[in-house]
Order: sequence, then C-alpha cells, then structure tokens
Amino acid sequence: MAQQTTGKPITINVNGRDHVIDAPPDSMLLYALRDNLGLRGPKFGCGLSECGACTVILNGNATHSCIMPLAAAEGQKITTLEGLGTKETPNRLQEAFIEEQAAQCGYCIGGMIMTAQALLDRNPNPTRDDIKQALDGNLCRCGTHMRILRAVERVANSNPATGTGTKS
Ligand code: FES
Repeated sequence: MAQQTTGKPITINVNGRDHVIDAPPDSMLLYALRDNLGLRGPKFGCGLSECGACTVILNGNATHSCIMPLAAAEGQKITTLEGLGTKETPNRLQEAFIEEQAAQCGYCIGGMIMTAQALLDRNPNPTRDDIKQALDGNLCRCGTHMRILRAVERVANSNPATGTGTKS
C-alpha cells in the first residue's frame, strides 16, 4: 500500500549523503531506510525496540530505527550497515564476523555489527564485559553469541588507537 505523504519532504543524511524522503514525519526511520532508500541492512524484527535487528548508528550512538520517527532523524548523521563497507570491501568488523562465521540465520547480525561498531568507535579497546554490555539489547535466537563476541574481540584486540572503519 502506498504511504500517505504530507507534502513536506524530509531530508535525512545517510551514509554521508543527503536524501529527500517523501513520507509522513511520524513514520519510522526504518521504513524510510528500507522502503525509500532500498537499504536492507537494518531489519524489521520486533518493531518495539526490543530486539536490535533495526540498529543504525545515529550521531555515533547505536539507535533502534524502528521507533525513531522520521522527523526526529532530520539533520542527524545516520550510518547503516551499508555505510561500513561492501560485500567486496567489508570494513574490519564485518570482516571479523565473516572470519568467525558469526552468523547462523543472520537476521540479527546487521544490528549486532552496528551496535558493536558504535562501541568500537567510542572505545577501540573494549573488554569482553564492555562488549557484552553493549550487545545486551541485541537478541540472537540461533545462539552464535560466543562467535559474535570473538568477532568483536578480534577487532578490539587488533585496534591501534582509533576505531572504525565507518566510511561516512
Ligand atoms: Fe527495532 Fe526490534 S525491530 S528493536
């Protein structure tokens, strides 16, 4: 079904580029990312800010895009999984998830990576407890938690002094 629009497009900055979105201001950022921009990294899981599948980085913070109104995202700096790297050139953290084979069904993994990336950006050398605490709100039903932790630790343990790899 076509979204009802308001006639007042909203500009959001995603992965370093401005995009004009014609959607209701109270519609959720997740839908704009997926449906308007075709970015499928953020997933719809619960829609209630409880699973983390929809996580993006907003102004440096891991944020659940399923509960963020589009209007509130205007003028903010948003990074999605696609902004970290590509299939051909993954960033260091994406690479580490592949090296550890940290996905089973894979549905939660984009959100896990975004949350872990936000952590590594503010703390390039987190402890295992720091990582566990940061990922506490990201649910994985398959049970690959140990591999996920090892993937994040791969980056943490090899980090020089600065984080990331966000391209934007
Ligand atoms: Fe956003 Fe579950 S879909 S937290």
